[in-house]
Amino acid sequence: MKTHTLLMPLDMHLHLRDGVMLENIAPLSAYSFSGAIVMPNLVPPVTSLEDVQAYKKRIMAAVPNDYFEPYMTLFYKNYDKKFLESVVDEITAIKLYPAGITTNSDGGVSSFDIEQMRETLEAMSELEIPLCVHGETDGFVMDREAEFMSIYELLAQNFPKLKIIMEHITTKEAVAILDKYENLYATITVHHLLLTLDDVIGGMMMPHHFCKPIAKRPEDLDALLSVALEAHPKVMFGSDSAPHPQHKKEASGCAAGIFTAPIALQILCEIFEQYDKLENLQAFVSDNAQNIYGICPEFKEVTLVKEEFIVPEKYANVVPIYAQNALAWSIESVE
Ligand code: DOR
Ligand code: ZN
Repeated sequence: MKTHTLLMPLDMHLHLRDGVMLENIAPLSAYSFSGAIVMPNLVPPVTSLEDVQAYKKRIMAAVPNDYFEPYMTLFYKNYDKKFLESVVDEITAIKLYPAGITTNSDGGVSSFDIEQMRETLEAMSELEIPLCVHGETDGFVMDREAEFMSIYELLAQNFPKLKIIMEHITTKEAVAILDKYENLYATITVHHLLLTLDDVIGGMMMPHHFCKPIAKRPEDLDALLSVALEAHPKVMFGSDSAPHPQHKKEASGCAAGIFTAPIALQILCEIFEQYDKLENLQAFVSDNAQNIYGICPEFKEVTLVKEEFIVPEKYANVVPIYAQNALAWSIESVE
């Protein structure tokens, strides 16, 4: 039977939550990934050295003995240099949310006034702390990401030494800007390599396909596939796996977020195989991220086999994407 082995898969954008949810879902990522960039949008958000250290401890306590590195992040505020110097050894990146743009982002940035951000972003450049950005404006929902491109340009031009990661890109505009600035990078989710808006609201409304940024048009999907499948060196896999309890998804007000962590590698294998690009999956799920972030994950070897896998109806109280559907690939072993 056909197999495919991945070394040190990394998830460069992951929501692990806290409390019982963390305990339920962290082991799923720890099983098949070597490490993950852990998002700081808890309630309240992760904004201090103590928050980072305590959250990392809770994550480590939630995962079994398997080796898994949580790469910690801070929630962006206009921090001063002294503070950043005190946390630099404990974090891998800082995540910027525009205020109120998505789940638990109320404390985010309400103005992109470069002068207000200058001290923080210059200190981050000097200390080599990458800036991860949720790039959406508060405009019309289908245009929010494209409208954010001018802010990415402003940041990239003003802080040329700052590594800026355009998180979970969904548009051809984001793909187009990637090579325009040396210091711009991107993560891409697995669901944005599968879905368009039609899959969210084109037929029956699909709460488990609803996330921010929302899936866009077929030409956007094609642009994302083109850079992911070639494993463009500035592009990394970041699942943005974002668990919400079933009752918050299957509700009159549906929470944004798609849960993919336990099946992301299986689905990626299927997509890359379908386009005859399996040889590029290693770079997309690990090598590019290691180069961009300068990280060296501990050894882990994940072997997938082309054997049907039926996605569970739920993982604890979280419904994954493609629940109860058959995937073409399964995880055969992890060493
Ligand atoms: O769909 C999303 N869910 N997008 C985000 O940016 C945040 C995430 C969450 O935390 O649930
Ligand atoms: Zn996210």
